[in-house]
Amino acid sequence: MSIKNIILKNRKWASSKGKDFFENLSEGQNPSILWIGCSDSRVPPDTITQSEPGNIFVHRNIANLIFNDDLNLLSILEYSINVLKIKNIIVCGHYGCGGIKAAMEKQESNNIDKWINNIRKTISANKEELDLITNETYKWDRLVELNILEQINNLKKCEVVKKAIEKNKKIFLHPLVFDLKNGNLLHI
Ligand code: CO
Repeated sequence: MSIKNIILKNRKWASSKGKDFFENLSEGQNPSILWIGCSDSRVPPDTITQSEPGNIFVHRNIANLIFNDDLNLLSILEYSINVLKIKNIIVCGHYGCGGIKAAMEKQESNNIDKWINNIRKTISANKEELDLITNETYKWDRLVELNILEQINNLKKCEVVKKAIEKNKKIFLHPLVFDLKNGNLLHI
């Protein structure tokens, strides 16, 4: 897909939407969901949920990881909860995640490896269960799910989420996985 193509497709899309749509859009945003997902190009949150601009506040990184010292993520959380008053936070991973696969393999000395290294803690913590799965693809799939659940736990440890829960702000955390093979989004 060339840049020229991107611009052309954009113009087509813009003219399909009409004036009212953009008048609404330019007035401000009121998304009801924060989506924390993988950067993988095959998992675009708007497309797979048939959402429109303004519906979903989005944060994506490799393997949908949550660290409570990641300033990028913390700003997103703070803005979502305190300003946008979002109550539903989705952590969405996907089967076939390259970041998860890399964590199953030997350590490399690059930035990606530093980023995904924490997934290896999830592998050790669930060693017994994972060792029982002899099929490598099933093992990979299960680790994708375990990673999502681990990130939900990490979310709960973030100060802004903790405070919101303490103040009874009713924050709902949803672990979801996307299946590339059939396009389904599943609750795990
Ligand atoms: Co991925």
